[in-house]
Amino acid sequence: MINSLRGMNDILSEDYERFTYFINTATDIAQKYGFHFIETPLLEETALFKRSVGESSDIVGKEMYQFIDKGENDVCLRPEGTAGVVRAFVQKKLDKAGGIQRYFYHGSMFRYERPQKGRLRQFHQFGVESFGVDSVYEDATMIMMVSDILIKLGIGYRLQLNSLGDNNCMPDYRTNLVKFVQACKDDICEDCVRRLDTNPIRVLDCKNSKCQELYVSAPKLIQNLCPTCSDDFETLKKILQNNGIDYEIDTNLVRGLDYYSKTAFEFVSDNIGSQSAIAGGGRYDRLVEFLDGRPTPAVGFAMGIERLMELIVMPESVRSGYYLGAMDDEAIDLVVSLTQKKRATDRSTCEYKTKNLKNHLKGADKVNAKYCAVIGSNEIADGTIWVKDLENKTEQTILLEEF
Ligand code: HAM
Repeated sequence: MINSLRGMNDILSEDYERFTYFINTATDIAQKYGFHFIETPLLEETALFKRSVGESSDIVGKEMYQFIDKGENDVCLRPEGTAGVVRAFVQKKLDKAGGIQRYFYHGSMFRYERPQKGRLRQFHQFGVESFGVDSVYEDATMIMMVSDILIKLGIGYRLQLNSLGDNNCMPDYRTNLVKFVQACKDDICEDCVRRLDTNPIRVLDCKNSKCQELYVSAPKLIQNLCPTCSDDFETLKKILQNNGIDYEIDTNLVRGLDYYSKTAFEFVSDNIGSQSAIAGGGRYDRLVEFLDGRPTPAVGFAMGIERLMELIVMPESVRSGYYLGAMDDEAIDLVVSLTQKKRATDRSTCEYKTKNLKNHLKGADKVNAKYCAVIGSNEIADGTIWVKDLENKTEQTILLEEF
């Protein structure tokens, strides 16, 4: 037997209902916020992610599904959605159009991580990206959108917030942090020693508990923000308070992707185990320029659909449409053509095999139909059809023309 690859799952039956319920709910909310759908390829040039997510990140350094294709191109399966959307934005010259442009997307992402509960190698994200707004009100709006989606799905969360500063304050902070970490270099893990050279800020979210103990007294970026970043962060907190969104400040929240500046946030759930991040995002004002576009402020987020699936509180499923069945072979053709007609207005399925009434009622129940409609030789002779309303438990025999 050939099985699926490790960390790559099928989404079937009940899971699929949850999956589509999530997509429909998130899509509806994103559209209410004025976002438009965008679809970008699963395969992109590897250089795109090296330049955006960053060569020092774990995602690019260790986790990419990267290969040389038949045309000798260095390509990889996308590990995240933002880089592709920004590439499309620049390639289609939308950066030159100016104004505000807002997009949402959903689809598979690929990261060669060690699979465990909540951590897959192929997983699905729902994400949004907003271009052209440098106001922190847009950052707050992103956070409120995630909150709205989670509340609609019945999912509780904790919101963690940080500011990563900008080109004015980050370089000085980085220098101070490096000085601090250099002083305890002998006691930190190998990854952190490497990070000192590649991306020192990433030491702050090292998962090694010994490193974390040492970094408790490290300088905090949030206390070293320039006046603009500091004011924006204060405003962001005020907007969230005014709109009833609780948050925690996490000074070590640096996010695993290199493109962020200023606002960084993560939504976590305490009910799904160690892989608790259910959504993450932030501002990335320099990325469009990094990818050869006109400097354009931008902010966005992505939600991990598999992690959310088990938390979603599904609405009670509502019966709808028709199930049609034949009780005698001679009725099958009629049942098939009646089903075909009903599909013009209602969700309708039919059973191709002759069955007795009890089994047809079971079949209708299984597909959650509102009506079970059955024809046998008696009904054919009379030009009628027997219909049961499975919600109201009423039944009647009606003329085929009326049906
Ligand atoms: P990210 O934090 O890397 O951000 O991923 C977003 C979400 O995807 C995570 O919070 C998590 O729920 C889910 N996720 C990540 N890795 C896995 C995995 N291996 N298995 C299952 N779920 C996973 C980004 O990807 C950014 N592009 C978000 C963004 C958009 N920032 C600005 N715009």
